[in-house]
Amino acid sequence: MVADRVRQVEISGIRRMFEAAPPNAINLGLGEPDFEPPKAVIDALCDAVRHGKNHYGPSAGLPALREKLAERYRERDAETSRENVIVTGSGSEGLMAVALTMYDPGDEVLVPNPGFVLYPPHAKLAGATPVPYDLIEATGYQPDFEQLERLVTPKTRVIVVNSPSNPTGGVFPRKTVDRIISFADEHDLTIVSDEVYEEMVYEGRFQSFWGRTDRAIIVNSFSKTLAMTGWRIGFLLAPRPLAVEINKLHYHMMACPSTPGQVAVLAGLEDGGAATRAMVAEFRARRQLISAGLAKIPGVTVVKPAGAFYTFPHLDWPGTAQEIAGTLLQRGLISTPGDAFGTLGAQHLRLSFAASRANLRKGLEILRSVGQELGVA
Ligand SMILES: Cc1ncc(COP(=O)(O)O)c(C=O)c1O
Repeated sequence: MVADRVRQVEISGIRRMFEAAPPNAINLGLGEPDFEPPKAVIDALCDAVRHGKNHYGPSAGLPALREKLAERYRERDAETSRENVIVTGSGSEGLMAVALTMYDPGDEVLVPNPGFVLYPPHAKLAGATPVPYDLIEATGYQPDFEQLERLVTPKTRVIVVNSPSNPTGGVFPRKTVDRIISFADEHDLTIVSDEVYEEMVYEGRFQSFWGRTDRAIIVNSFSKTLAMTGWRIGFLLAPRPLAVEINKLHYHMMACPSTPGQVAVLAGLEDGGAATRAMVAEFRARRQLISAGLAKIPGVTVVKPAGAFYTFPHLDWPGTAQEIAGTLLQRGLISTPGDAFGTLGAQHLRLSFAASRANLRKGLEILRSVGQELGVA
């Protein structure tokens, strides 16, 4: 018999959909770039493996990589040092290490609805209770601060935020960031800010929580920015005393992150972000293509995503999001039903536009014809 905590969590809805897909289906369901890592990164990995970089390293990561990352964040907070930085085995591992470090049984954790699938189960696995807060479609998926005031209790320890957001593509402007910080100050909360899509912003400017408050833990990843989701390298930043505690958990979860992977990432940071910017320029064009295509399909409304590489259309069609996604799947389009991300996703699909323009066009065509069959005028 397995532990209670395991019985409380399920396999993610996203993975289930992917596993049920017919061959040759158009995949707009999974959250990863359809690019390969930059050549310099691949070469550096091969070189590292061939030249003996195959051993354990420090659990918080290679000093050179920690230093490089600290340097980048010193633009946000001049006091940032490598002691604030922990290299993780992905954003997912970073989020779990943070959850296990921060949440006690009985604590409450404010999580976005709709929001990324890992936040509620991580809270539960740590014995805490996830408390969803709404992101409002009509405001471009900003939080409702009056609701947040109603949801917060003496047991609330953390608010998890994610801008740019998976699944909505919403981005917090400066004023939302400032209000979240005031809210956290008022209620003595830690802010866990998942910033893995920070480099993918199409409207406005990305606003980090780092450097604006000493209450924030930042979770980040190279999965998306260097198109290396399969390599499993991420990082986090935390105020120094907290970083020491998180590193303990991180050590117990994975001893240390991949040594050759870190050497490769370090090489990837040498180009000053040029490879990521080229990829994001292509995502920008695809975002335009998919937003314009969706707007022409009857019964579909969509807030144009300001960041990340997802669009989260609202479907005024017969059936639940699960049923609609099931029909689309049979017709060869993999999407993710919006309710995988919380109750407010019930009438939505998440479509990734990290797919070729040809596949986006085919996906739109399948959506249009299924809508027609369902009799949506
Ligand atoms: C919002 C968000 N956070 C974290 C992650 C985790 O990414 P990884 O574990 O690949 O670093 C993802 C991946 O989809 C994500 O969308």
